[in-house]
Amino acid sequence: MKFKTIEWKGHYLRLLDQRRLPGEVRYLKCTDASSVARAIRTMAIRGAPAIGVAAAMGIALAAKKIRPCQPSAFRAAMDRVCDFMGRTRPTAVNLFWAIDRMKKVLDEAPSSSLGEIRTRLEAEARQIYEEDIETNRKIGEYGKVLIKDGFGVLTHCNAGALATAGYGTALGVIYAAWSEGKKFEMFADETRPMLQGARLTAWELVQEKIPVTVITDNMAGWLMKQGRISLMVVGADRIARNGDVANKIGTYPLAILADFHRIPFYVAAPTSTLDLTIASGEAIPIEERSPEEVTHFRGKRIAAKKVSVFNPAFDVTPHTLIEGIVTEKGIIRKPYERNLRKVQQTRECLSQSAQRSRRAGGFESNR
Ligand code: MRU
Repeated sequence: MKFKTIEWKGHYLRLLDQRRLPGEVRYLKCTDASSVARAIRTMAIRGAPAIGVAAAMGIALAAKKIRPCQPSAFRAAMDRVCDFMGRTRPTAVNLFWAIDRMKKVLDEAPSSSLGEIRTRLEAEARQIYEEDIETNRKIGEYGKVLIKDGFGVLTHCNAGALATAGYGTALGVIYAAWSEGKKFEMFADETRPMLQGARLTAWELVQEKIPVTVITDNMAGWLMKQGRISLMVVGADRIARNGDVANKIGTYPLAILADFHRIPFYVAAPTSTLDLTIASGEAIPIEERSPEEVTHFRGKRIAAKKVSVFNPAFDVTPHTLIEGIVTEKGIIRKPYERNLRKVQQTRECLSQSAQRSRRAGGFESNR
């Protein structure tokens, strides 16, 4: 990729400001947890895995800023930072997954020196970053089989390198198929109101020289009726125990259209997006964002004055409409309740043994 979504720079984070794309490629310098939290809330950085990585790095930064103090005072301060990060956006479970991993480091190092804790937190945040890229490449490898030559593939929002630490989930599937030489047509929904499709997905694909056609969200049904869409692949922000998936607003109607037109609808997501603590999509908290996102674009009013606005940032697609969930562990099929639990169990075993070996090997502060 010709850009980096997020970079750890030791005493600050370098974030690509996605609010300015595609017109301007400008990087933000975040030197503390509150500037990272602001970047997440205002969507300078967005996408479930990317905000998880940013939160983890923001927590590691905060640990560096806290002046030497009693272990209990340090822990209390870090808990405040973690809570603060957790209040940035409610739907993407990757945010809370990453915060929990950082809290686990704090739990396991109560008596360690401040320097050691800072090193461990930095190492864990960087581990989350590297694992995310590796995970997305695996998602691409498993998902590329779904795309055949001559296909028309539609995606919604941006689930690419910009939404992750790198490479992307749904777009990871596209990149893997394209780099294998498959020839297919890409369609990107503009994705109102924040236009992640027209601004970010199209920009990424153009950077990678993959031809893309941008459509407005209300054109998808007509494209499907004309038989130009053979496959849909989208990302996810949270996946419930039964396989219901929360993703960018507008995903649910696309799944219904795809079902009606018998077009396979796939979700690509890392297993860190699984939230098996909730039974179904009904329990997924859906973020409501400011009305200005709907009534204005880039500060210019586009809707009539004196109107009410409804602006949920995500919706939930029932598992019945999802053909498969492409993860770094393979493509998960129905029945999701059983198969997602199996994947989660494997993941927990693996992460425990990975952590044990990391601990045994001591801190990798120079990575
Ligand atoms: O509001 P956003 O831009 O953060 O929403 C992003 C999405 O819905 C993505 O599809 C999802 O986070 C998956 S990103 C790999």
